Amino acid sequence: MQASDLGDDLQKVLIDEEMIAAKVREMAAAISRDYADRPLLLVGVLKGAVMIMADLARELSIPVEMDWMAVSSYGSGTKSSGVVRILKDLDRDITGKHVLVVEDILDSGLTLSWLLRNLRSRGPASVEVCTFLRKPDAVKVEVPTRYLGFDIPNEFVVGYGLDYAQKYRNLRVVGTLAPHVYGG
Ligand code: PRP
Repeated sequence: MQASDLGDDLQKVLIDEEMIAAKVREMAAAISRDYADRPLLLVGVLKGAVMIMADLARELSIPVEMDWMAVSSYGSGTKSSGVVRILKDLDRDITGKHVLVVEDILDSGLTLSWLLRNLRSRGPASVEVCTFLRKPDAVKVEVPTRYLGFDIPNEFVVGYGLDYAQKYRNLRVVGTLAPHVYGG
């Protein structure tokens, strides 16, 4: 879905397709270099990371394994508590593996910090983080981020995997929605 398909539901494009493609290439080049002699397992966090995972993986010049996790908070208010529930776990044992967690966005950092603790407890050789977006002004827990796409302002954004009420994930750009979309 193009930005123009949204008409006036889209308020502003923050990151367009060219910027996304250039950044993905840049991140993929760094990852390919860093893991040239270490087998890598990419772990995508559903559902937001689907787009960045698919694009990033295809830009890599090294073979990787790919697996997925789905996590969710326990009811409302959980995000602030940082308590996370695993809805779908990895299909494999990651003992001794080099793991790179791929996320669409690092907001408060609570999800990733919980996930990193969880993954590290499984005895991997290494765990690093790659996130396409980060909101520095929203951070509650610092998460060491090895690969970063863009720092963005603390605004609600959709597109490129990110949703509002499960919609707009298939928008090709990252942007903000007009207030009337939330107004109902
Ligand atoms: C988003 C994103 C991260 C998390 C980041 O997922 O994919 O997992 O929120 O927020 P945090 O840093 O404040 O913890 P979401 O729960 O919206 O699920 P989704 O990926 O299925 O959209």
